[in-house]
Amino acid sequence: MPKNKGKLVCMVVVFVLALTLSVGCFTRSNAEADDQPAPPPGMPSLKEIYKDYFEIGAAVNLSTINTHRSLIDFHFSSLTAENEMKPEGLQRTEGRFSFQIADRIVNLAVDQGLKMRGHTLVWHAQTPGWFFQDKNGNRIDQKAVITEEDRQLVRERLESHIENVMQYYAGKVYAWDVVNEAISDDGRYILRQDSPWFRILGEEFLEIAFRKAHEVDPDAKLFYNDYNIERPYKLNRTIQMLQSLLDKGVPIHGVGIQGHWSVGDSLAEVEQAIKKYAELGLEIHITELDIGTRDISAQGLARQAEYYRQAFALFKKYSDVITSVTLWGISDAATWRPNDNPLLFDKNREPKPAFWAIVDTDKSWEENKAYYLGE
Ligand code: G3I
Repeated sequence: MPKNKGKLVCMVVVFVLALTLSVGCFTRSNAEADDQPAPPPGMPSLKEIYKDYFEIGAAVNLSTINTHRSLIDFHFSSLTAENEMKPEGLQRTEGRFSFQIADRIVNLAVDQGLKMRGHTLVWHAQTPGWFFQDKNGNRIDQKAVITEEDRQLVRERLESHIENVMQYYAGKVYAWDVVNEAISDDGRYILRQDSPWFRILGEEFLEIAFRKAHEVDPDAKLFYNDYNIERPYKLNRTIQMLQSLLDKGVPIHGVGIQGHWSVGDSLAEVEQAIKKYAELGLEIHITELDIGTRDISAQGLARQAEYYRQAFALFKKYSDVITSVTLWGISDAATWRPNDNPLLFDKNREPKPAFWAIVDTDKSWEENKAYYLGE
């Protein structure tokens, strides 16, 4: 072999070796950075514990699918995207749908055999302004007179969003929060008056949305999702709204009680609401559970644990109608309520007393922890 050729072969071999090693290192260090250690032996899995009752889900985002990956794999049977499937996540510009980011969450669910809840198609928040602008760029919902042409335009956009998104995720997303937070906080009205959907389309926007959703994916379970609809000030108006949709034959299959609570909030009210929604013949999902406490002393965390225990005992009691319970996050390190410490795992992603409390709701959290960890 000529001297130069030998040198060239040598250089190629060294280069390939170096490349292989660096790719190997890169992949490995990335995996280590992304993940956390698997839960230690003896740790009970929430999805195992609740498998005969309901799906147990978590809201996740692009960051937590990495930073909380072991906990997701071990404990949860269902995922919800915290923000990525909202209208501003999927159609920031009219007609340009971008599914890549949401896909990372949906594909994780599909690959791991987890259920995927879709959140959310129609909402007054996190929805780009163009949805509500006329062809001249004026906000239709702020006009003194809204024309039939304006209404038609907005209706088409509503239907097109639902059609594109649900068609794309058909077979992957089994349940959708079709309409989110439409009920007014003001007792004088049933529907919130500041929603551009309501201002432009009137109360019919709900019917349009649910009918379109059912037409696009007849296999999907369609939910109405809202906060405080288990509280007396909102319960009856929500029942009224749902009943009137059902009377018109609108395809609505379930109600999502979000569950952004604080320790001490009435669970008796929650039970009353569950009974009333069940009487409508609707399935119930607890969609965004997190139970806040500012007191993170040992006593405060024990009180939070006891409240979580009672909440899950209640959900189990009604598991014939409650088919899914989703926590709005996994650990207190990544929550929209950072001062309220509302989740089952602490800022170091370690199980809190609240976690141990729901492992067996017939026992105290201390007993459960001692039993499983052999302490
Ligand atoms: O999109 C911007 C991003 O471009 C920017 O870099 C970043 C910097 O702060 O902000 C990003 O927007 C934030 C968004 O979350 C995505 O992270 C918003 O500021 C922030 O307000 C937004 O909060 C979300 C909130 O909905 C908005 O209404 C929370 O994460 C999310 O947990 C929360 O979820 C809602 C449910 O959808 C409906 N029910 C109530 C629940 C809690 O509010």
